[in-house]
Amino acid sequence: MTPERRPMLAANWKMHKSVPESLAFVRAWSRRVADGAALPPRDRVELVLCPTLPALWPVAGPLDAMGVGVGAQNIDLGAEGAVTGGVSGPLLAEALATHVIVGHSERRRLFGETDAVVGAKAAAVLSAGLTPIVCVGESSDERRAGQTREVVARQLTAVLDAVAGGGERVVVAYEPLWAIGTGQGAAPADASEVAGWCRGLAAAAWGSAASGLRILYGGSVTRDNILGFWHADEIDGALVGGASLEMESWLAMVHAVAPAPSA
Ligand code: PGA
Repeated sequence: MTPERRPMLAANWKMHKSVPESLAFVRAWSRRVADGAALPPRDRVELVLCPTLPALWPVAGPLDAMGVGVGAQNIDLGAEGAVTGGVSGPLLAEALATHVIVGHSERRRLFGETDAVVGAKAAAVLSAGLTPIVCVGESSDERRAGQTREVVARQLTAVLDAVAGGGERVVVAYEPLWAIGTGQGAAPADASEVAGWCRGLAAAAWGSAASGLRILYGGSVTRDNILGFWHADEIDGALVGGASLEMESWLAMVHAVAPAPSA
């Protein structure tokens, strides 16, 4: 982490929590903040919560009042038209989304999203004026075969090419597949090394714009291990799945990353 890149803590709720449950969580969080729970200043740490799509609009207002962004977990290409089931960037922006997760490994695996599609989706997020959080990462087989850099380079290059020039607003999340939901997070030093490699690729593609590229780590981040990633040199924050679903666990992470008031 470096001071010129504002760190991000993002919650990925995946297909969890109904609309009432999502709203109840956000209202309870807001009450806790009103009662004095730590909330990092917006200019020091960017907080983002990515609920299910039906909950996005209902929670956007209360989150915005706390200075917290709200993210969708997918986007479809195009602006409008005959795309049954599609949700475009302009629709997400109107629903008050501020961020969109793109290319999560679950979408690559379950919905066949290719590197080219992920690149196009990242560009679509930028065109809608939103911030893409683009996920990259290798499988356990690829890791065993020593292909981590090759796989991540392939996934990232498709995005770098598609969004050329949008560097300041792109966020990358390095999420090794073997670490997602397994309780076996990467070693922070290893994740930091991959993040540094990603930044090098971005610098080769974009030049100096790459210095603003934020690279998060995701995969079994918890209240117990978050600071190891948070303080790793090349890592600019965390994308958290399971550990973001429960209030005390989420608050503990928000509290852990909030800079001391006097700092
Ligand atoms: P996890 O998921 O924190 O539950 O491992 C992270 C993610 O898939 O984004």
